[in-house]
Amino acid sequence: MKICVDKGLCIGCGLCVNLYPNLFSIDEKNGKAETVYKNIPKNLEHDGSQCSDICPVDAIIIVNER
Ligand code: F3S
Repeated sequence: MKICVDKGLCIGCGLCVNLYPNLFSIDEKNGKAETVYKNIPKNLEHDGSQCSDICPVDAIIIVNER
């Protein structure tokens, strides 16, 4: 599983970082979210599968892999 943030959409509200600090951080350079992991560890996949729902501008994209 991979998670991407569409930086063109992200408004830097910080909700993803507040709710899922293991998965997201804020890029100091542009104030937008970035993902902590390139590939989500197995133990965080549950959070990973939920997190895209909370973004108010749908900037979080989940890519499920086999
Ligand atoms: Fe950006 Fe959405 Fe997070 S707007 S800061 S990706 S909740």
